[in-house]
Amino acid sequence: MTATTPPITVPGDKSIAHRALMLAALARGASRLLNVPAGLDVLSTQRVLRALGVTILRQAQDDNGVDELIVHGSGGALVAPGTPIDCGNSGTTIRLLAGVLATRGLTVTLDGDGSLRARPMRRIAAPLAAFGTQIELSPGGTAPFVVHGNAHARGTQVEVVVPSAQVKSAVLFAALGAHGRSRVTGQLATRDHTERLFDAFGIACAADESGALVVDGPQTPQATDFSVPGDVSSAAFLLAAAAAVPGARAVVEDVGLNPTRIAFFDVLRRFGAEVEVHASDGGPEPRGRVAVRGAVLHAIVVEPAEVPGLIDELPLIGVLGAFARGTTVVSGAAELRVKESDRIETFARAARAIGVEVETSEDGFSVHGPARFHDGAIVTAGDHRIAMAFAVAGRAAEIAVQLDDPECVAVSFPNFAAALDSVA
Ligand code: S3P
Repeated sequence: MTATTPPITVPGDKSIAHRALMLAALARGASRLLNVPAGLDVLSTQRVLRALGVTILRQAQDDNGVDELIVHGSGGALVAPGTPIDCGNSGTTIRLLAGVLATRGLTVTLDGDGSLRARPMRRIAAPLAAFGTQIELSPGGTAPFVVHGNAHARGTQVEVVVPSAQVKSAVLFAALGAHGRSRVTGQLATRDHTERLFDAFGIACAADESGALVVDGPQTPQATDFSVPGDVSSAAFLLAAAAAVPGARAVVEDVGLNPTRIAFFDVLRRFGAEVEVHASDGGPEPRGRVAVRGAVLHAIVVEPAEVPGLIDELPLIGVLGAFARGTTVVSGAAELRVKESDRIETFARAARAIGVEVETSEDGFSVHGPARFHDGAIVTAGDHRIAMAFAVAGRAAEIAVQLDDPECVAVSFPNFAAALDSVA
């Protein structure tokens, strides 16, 4: 099915890019990072690292707005700016950075936009306290917050109680600066980019026989050259646009195929679409080409255990449910309520606006399909994944979908509209 469909590329993976930038910033020596996405979230990470004294030079930018960067590592010698650091809309930036700063001798205030200020931060403050780090949160447990880093932190045992890669990663970054052995236990079955990039930057971090992640600190990353694969969570929107239309096709190349991120391919198959995956490179972050052919879809049930592997794709799965015969059910996904918006409510409100029947619960939603779609105006709540999911709905259902804030896609996929237009 791939022979006649022109392949599309998507911007580099933002989860991977945040981590590569932070490790390069802590490294000794200069790292060359290729295919770094120029979405606003990754620009936020660059801005905060520069504010901490790291030199990041942009070597080139291609037509897709993709950057090649040289990062001159600080060797760990960060400097505190006199003013609060603005992390924009990016939860990964603020939470991972809190981990980086937790075991360095600086006091820094971290802040973000209105959406980021509404998101929970006790989930990082509590585990980072195990390193003797004091984090003063705003009332309500949110940003802005002050990190009083502890340069004399000792390695420690930390249990991650929220199934969140951001929390796990914050603890792993803190362990790099602590003296002695840290063991990280608990909810670790989330995306594993930090573990893989630690390896790429020469950091020893291994799972012991009980599955705990063990880091002997302090460790300084070694500068390296690294190319970021395309973002599979961005590709998902293009693949879904094809999946929902019988006979339509989309081929995305050079996209990340990390096993902790590709559960969505299986979801597309369960809905009834045809999916082909060709891995091309086994590097620290596997990558390759994915092709999807659309079909008449039937409803699926997403089990709670699947949620961490699909967390960013759940609104899009709800949209696909509207095209599928039967009731598509997502449960065990209360985390959706604390994303860039309350994605259970924003999804349901947007779906109803175009004629989709949805019921919500505390931790998920049910969608009845196939919907009798009609034109509608969508309140995105400034949430990029809601905007992209409903642009896909509009295209696949051939209805006019008016987004109140189409620009919000820029945090992860600035050229999204053009890429969606190129799906056959
Ligand atoms: C991310 C982890 C996920 C995901 C977010 C990026 C990461 O968040 O939703 O888009 O890069 O670690 P949680 O860790 O809060 O689940």
